[in-house]
Amino acid sequence: MPNLHNYLITFALGASILASPMVLAAQEGRFGYGSPASAEQIAGWDIDVRPDGQGLPPGEGSVEDGEELYEEKCALCHGSFGESVSGYPALAGGGGSLTDPRPKKTVGSYWRYTSTLWDYIHRAMPFTQPESLSDDEVYAITAYVLHLNDIVDYEFVLTRDNLTEVRLPNEDNFIPDQRPDTRNKRCMKRCKDPADVKVASEAAAYVPEGGPDALYSEVEAQEDGIVTTVTGNGVYERHCALCHADGIGGAPAIGDTSAWSARIEQGLDVLYRHAIEGYSGEDGIMPPKGGFVNLSDSEVGLAVDYIVEQSQ
Ligand code: HEC
Ligand code: HEC
Repeated sequence: MPNLHNYLITFALGASILASPMVLAAQEGRFGYGSPASAEQIAGWDIDVRPDGQGLPPGEGSVEDGEELYEEKCALCHGSFGESVSGYPALAGGGGSLTDPRPKKTVGSYWRYTSTLWDYIHRAMPFTQPESLSDDEVYAITAYVLHLNDIVDYEFVLTRDNLTEVRLPNEDNFIPDQRPDTRNKRCMKRCKDPADVKVASEAAAYVPEGGPDALYSEVEAQEDGIVTTVTGNGVYERHCALCHADGIGGAPAIGDTSAWSARIEQGLDVLYRHAIEGYSGEDGIMPPKGGFVNLSDSEVGLAVDYIVEQSQ
């Protein structure tokens, strides 16, 4: 029985390998295995910086030094003025656009805390070499990105001590959102006849099989006859933008005409089908209905129309 023989040897070996560290760890650690993490090991992971500045290491950097570093390490993707290159996120601009249908969210227009900027650059950028910057370099580049957003002067030097004093313009607009995440309550009794519910749509471009009424198969009858508006823009914002706004995971970004021209040439029918049924192409995977299987085909169609309209 060679197999059993092998098994026994393996078992014996395993047991002897395991035995010695276990005995050691039982003395040191609480659970009898592993070993306590050293202060040095913990420091490698514990790099978050909080809004009150906790976690910031000593150091400083000027806008002037940051300019050179940024040009060398960041501009290729984010643009010399933070305006964005080939679909990478813009780091400046967009002030006052947050109430627009397509807001431009940047460090300057949207972000809440300067500490997040320091933390993000420190842990994640440059994209291809995260954690390669020295602390002073992170201070300098953070200062420069603030300068690109007209938040600090060119003479400014950012330090551990003054970082929390630099306030971003949108800070006060963050509020706890108390709204429930669904708008309508399901009607269980004395419900209105669905025929009496009036539905309005701003986007009429796509008339689905079964006529325009088929658009609203999801709409629930309401006791008080709530009017629900389904628009391509609305469906897009809720269900497609997470990938198509910035081009996450190979998704063609909305508005990127070069990414869309060949796709649009396939004709709307193909685009509808791909969006509804999903497909995997050369750039990535488009999940059926973007993963939101509860969307009706017509809602997805409206969103496709909207994307196409914005991208040609
Ligand atoms: C090779 C391209 C590339 C380079 C170079 C690069 N980045 Fe980025 N950056 C990205 C990508 C891609 C994202 C989005 C990452 C994500 O969302 O996961 C990003 C996101 C960011 C963000 C967040 C933007 C937002 O509003 O969400 C900041 C800030 C940033 N980068 C700063 C920098 C800085 C500073 C440098 C230079 C030290 C740098 N980046 C270099 C590609 C790059
Ligand atoms: C999880 C990410 C994700 C979501 C969410 C998503 N898409 Fe996509 N979509 C993709 C990717 C990736 C591609 C590109 C696939 C390829 O061509 O390789 C794509 C491609 C497309 C295309 C082009 C099809 C073609 O034939 O070129 C359309 C149209 C589209 N998506 C519509 C939508 C609509 C409408 C929604 C919202 C209901 C949506 N997508 C949500 C990832 C997503």
